[in-house]
Amino acid sequence: MSSVNCPIVVLDSGLGGLTVVRALRRALPHEDIVYFGDTARVPYGPKSAATVTTFVHEIISYLLPYDPKHVVIACNTATALALPTVRTAFPYLSISGVIDPGARAAVEAAGQRQHPIIGIIGTEATIRSRAYERAVIRRRQYARLVCLATPLLVPIIEEGRSPDDPLVVMAVEQYLRPLIQRRIDVLVLGCTHYPLYKGLIARVVGPQVAVIDSAEKCAEDVLRRLRASNLQRQPRPESASLRCFVTDDSPRFATLAARFLGLNVPPPQWVPLEELHAHGPARAGRLSLRPVV
Ligand code: DGL
Repeated sequence: MSSVNCPIVVLDSGLGGLTVVRALRRALPHEDIVYFGDTARVPYGPKSAATVTTFVHEIISYLLPYDPKHVVIACNTATALALPTVRTAFPYLSISGVIDPGARAAVEAAGQRQHPIIGIIGTEATIRSRAYERAVIRRRQYARLVCLATPLLVPIIEEGRSPDDPLVVMAVEQYLRPLIQRRIDVLVLGCTHYPLYKGLIARVVGPQVAVIDSAEKCAEDVLRRLRASNLQRQPRPESASLRCFVTDDSPRFATLAARFLGLNVPPPQWVPLEELHAHGPARAGRLSLRPVV
């Protein structure tokens, strides 16, 4: 049984989930965090639901010895493809994702409009899954959605290009043009990597469009959950810890992590994929690979 002193586990395909860590640090400054970036297998965006579900299962299973009081799937793709299945596989764990908080925030930002036009950008898998459409329509039946896959952005961000790089500006302008033409009211950054380019994206779509950062909304959601279950940690003299795991032992992590987080992260611990495979659903024999829809 988890206690108030247990850490929050945050996982993503790569560095993008660190934007959620940054938001969690602000919302819950006293919580210890264990971060897992599956940097050897990023991107998840072009992969199938069965593959991504297996990856997420392996990571959660690997981190069980840390006795997490909450697990955040800080990746829209993994949330869209794997969340219901891993909730079934680990019924005793509290697990949340980023899509519901993002959709809720989009509807709030649409205000009283009867037929708001809500744009969503994300990876191919997130857009194909229609998870955002379902989450928005559940809350605002007559919302109109314009959903667009922007697959180049994740590799560009993982490469470490800054938002004023001409290639980045060109990609963002090209991708967002159809959304601007549709006169969207709200734009959801449906990928935890995208907040890194939030300023640029907001500039390109213009001040009339509310840009929703799913990382911030996800952190608010975790805060609400911990409060509701009385698991929020109280202020303490020692500072909260951040421990990072990665599946690819590349020096790039520390440099880019500093940019994503705005602070230095400790050197990550490398987890070889063979070690992770031993925690997979097939080995554990606990989970059908067929995703729950
Ligand atoms: N950060 C992940 C997300 O929020 C996507 C990156 C990837 O394609 O792996 O969807």
